[in-house]
Amino acid sequence: MKMEIKTLGILGGGQLGRMSALAASKLGIRTHIFCPEENCPASQVTDAFTQANYEDFNALKIFADSVDFISYEFENIPLETVEFLQKHKPVYPDSRILEVSQNRLKEKKFLNESGIKTALWAPAEKPEDIIETLNRWNVSDCIVKTTRFGYDGKGQIKHNDKDDVLSSWMKLQTEEAVIESIVEFLYECSIIVARDVFGNCETFPVTLNRHVNHILSESIAPAPISKEQSDLATAMGKKLAEAVGLVGVLALELFVTKDGELIANEIAPRTHNSGHWTMDGCNVSQFEQHVRAVCGMPIVKPVQHTPVTMHNLIGGDVKKVPEYLKRPDACVHLYGKMEAREGRKMGHVNILKLQEK
Ligand SMILES: Nc1ncnc2c1ncn2[C@@H]1O[C@H](COP(=O)(O)OP(=O)(O)O)[C@@H](O)[C@H]1O
Ligand SMILES: [Mg+2]
Repeated sequence: MKMEIKTLGILGGGQLGRMSALAASKLGIRTHIFCPEENCPASQVTDAFTQANYEDFNALKIFADSVDFISYEFENIPLETVEFLQKHKPVYPDSRILEVSQNRLKEKKFLNESGIKTALWAPAEKPEDIIETLNRWNVSDCIVKTTRFGYDGKGQIKHNDKDDVLSSWMKLQTEEAVIESIVEFLYECSIIVARDVFGNCETFPVTLNRHVNHILSESIAPAPISKEQSDLATAMGKKLAEAVGLVGVLALELFVTKDGELIANEIAPRTHNSGHWTMDGCNVSQFEQHVRAVCGMPIVKPVQHTPVTMHNLIGGDVKKVPEYLKRPDACVHLYGKMEAREGRKMGHVNILKLQEK
């Protein structure tokens, strides 16, 4: 019997692309990474690599011709790039969810229209909008976020009514922002959902996330939340996936309040740092689930076999690697980045809660 070897094209060459390429390889699928930076983490583990800009339509056409399916590993790929590629090959997740998650105003509106609660929010185009909104809500503090390109806490500020509103606004360097009420949360959680072309929809167990300096530091799976909360998070994730006809994986970040309420924060239409524990704690990883879905294969029901705490290795944390390598309960993943700069995600370690024998 002859086996046909398929190729998955991935836009973006960071660690998420790298781990997706490794998962594809496990399933006998080749990968072609398209990324503007040379020697990016994914370029080191792929069958083919194109170094070009996302606006280089000639390079994009050659890329599309060389692959069977296309996906992307981060949400700031220009919409026109995805729309162009969609004319040539199947691109998943499709541009609708990408458009929503690229703009925080569209995202909040979409979440609310899908019946999913968020923090109070209001658009802002000028500093006075912040004052007006604080007055209207009758509160003294808020968070103001740029509508686009924010990540790891970048592109957002906390504003108090005693602060100078003009200087808060100037710090954001944007023409369009979203003002959010501050959620007094007990925990931050996330739910990762996968959906395939056959309409199968599955979620991974809810994960509890701790941030340091706005960067994810630690994820605990399963999250120590009630069955009702976990069922609710699962239902929210599935509702979103169905609403956008998702093919692939998406993550929904949630706040859990003192009253046990779940409030949606943001959507990532891709694999997510809080799902890295699945690589060692589950029958299937988020990356394999994603590859299966975007390559037209069925996804599978995730079953967690081991409790896991995931630690991100950020900047100088890589110094801890020699110690982790000695531990039988530590699964070390490094991303092949040449320089450990401050705040840079260099790798992660999944600490397994192993059964004593
Ligand atoms: N409305 C809010 N209330 C309280 N904390 C918030 C709020 N929005 C964001 N945060 C905090 O800031 C972090 C980063 O914000 P987020 O919107 O997830 O942006 P990004 O992850 O893209 O930088 C969140 O994980 C949370 O800790
Ligand atoms: Mg976030």
